[in-house]
Amino acid sequence: MKNILVTGGAGFIGSNFVRMALEEHPDVHVVNLDKLTYAGNLQNLADVQDRPQYSFVHGDICDGPLVERLLEEHKIDTIVNFAAESHVDRSITGPKIFIETNVTGTLTLLQAARDKGLERFLQVSTDEVYGSLGSEGKFTEQTPLSPNSPYSASKAGADHLVRAFGHTFGLKYNITNCSNNYGPYQFPEKLIPLMIHNALHDKELPVYGDGMQVRDWLYVYDHCTAIWQVLEKAPPGQTYNIGGCNEKANIEVVEIILDRLNKPRSLIRYVKDRPGHDRRYAIDAGKIISQLGWKPSVTFEQGIAKTIDWYLSNEKWLAGVVSGEYQQYYQRMYAGR
Ligand code: NAD
Ligand code: DAU
Repeated sequence: MKNILVTGGAGFIGSNFVRMALEEHPDVHVVNLDKLTYAGNLQNLADVQDRPQYSFVHGDICDGPLVERLLEEHKIDTIVNFAAESHVDRSITGPKIFIETNVTGTLTLLQAARDKGLERFLQVSTDEVYGSLGSEGKFTEQTPLSPNSPYSASKAGADHLVRAFGHTFGLKYNITNCSNNYGPYQFPEKLIPLMIHNALHDKELPVYGDGMQVRDWLYVYDHCTAIWQVLEKAPPGQTYNIGGCNEKANIEVVEIILDRLNKPRSLIRYVKDRPGHDRRYAIDAGKIISQLGWKPSVTFEQGIAKTIDWYLSNEKWLAGVVSGEYQQYYQRMYAGR
């Protein structure tokens, strides 16, 4: 692996991955292809953008000729596909773009990867493709895909396509299905940064339904190291679940944030639930731990402390991303809820 095309590298996880790759693996060249949607932000990579091993290309993964040209020009041997529409609530109000980017965009990348005979195609996917759990059990790599939201259906569609390209055309691929990430540079539409931002500004914290939905949280850097282990060590055609064994009810997470920021619980406001809201996700990460030797570097308590500190020290970044379109989004999503 020498020349990696990272798609969606200006987003939350993608930018953390690009930074990790540049800082810890100076022998690789990273080309970052990103459309710079509302979620893409070049500020996320301002500290590493001048590295000689890094190139940024503003473009769309649905643009086949562009993707083919990049593979050729940069002698790409590996694609890591982070590019996606990633927010469940947005997929409920506007599903079409989720199909375009997450399904058609992935197909475009797969066709180019097949035609150029790439060494590896890594699809960054989610645990949401497995659907929702009751109070017992965990998702394994054998759990059937049973997505419930337009977002997770589009990610499951992409996972199926990746597998089909392996089966039909012999494409060398891996799929990773990861649980909820948190950490630096996460856009404040997602639970943790939204709650941090609102608490910092003494705004109400909107908890959906009864707040007892459970997510399995993983610090973003640990997701990035897991992907790297897969790229370096995994045989082609294998899928890996990634998760930190950190199951928490949403209300617990919100209370931890308020307590750390010394803000009152009276800021919590229960609001109308998300339609079709999945109750519980939990990952069995036994396969990646035992087969590839990956393990998370921090506990949830350490990770959330680092994350809150990061947002406190990066108020300028936060102020930048909540100006403009975000205000309209927030009104649309939360007013009168
Ligand atoms: P994000 O929304 O923060 O970033 C997505 C990035 O993709 C942005 O930079 C955006 O500009 C770019 N993008 C969108 N459409 C594009 C297109 N058509 N062409 C090129 N670039 C495009 O998302 P994230 O939270 O960083 O998630 C990254 C990936 O990881 C996604 O595939 C997501 O499904 C998956 N994932 C996310 C989580 C999580 O908790 N956030 C967990 C598991 C898996
Ligand atoms: O599980 C992995 C997935 O995690 C990723 O594939 C998705 O890209 C990512 O967005 C995330 O999906 P969720 O829907 O779990 O994340 P979100 O941060 O939107 O919500 C987390 C939980 O918090 C969920 O149960 C809904 C709830 N919630 C969320 C928001 C934004 C609230 O109660 N209030 C809120 O304002």
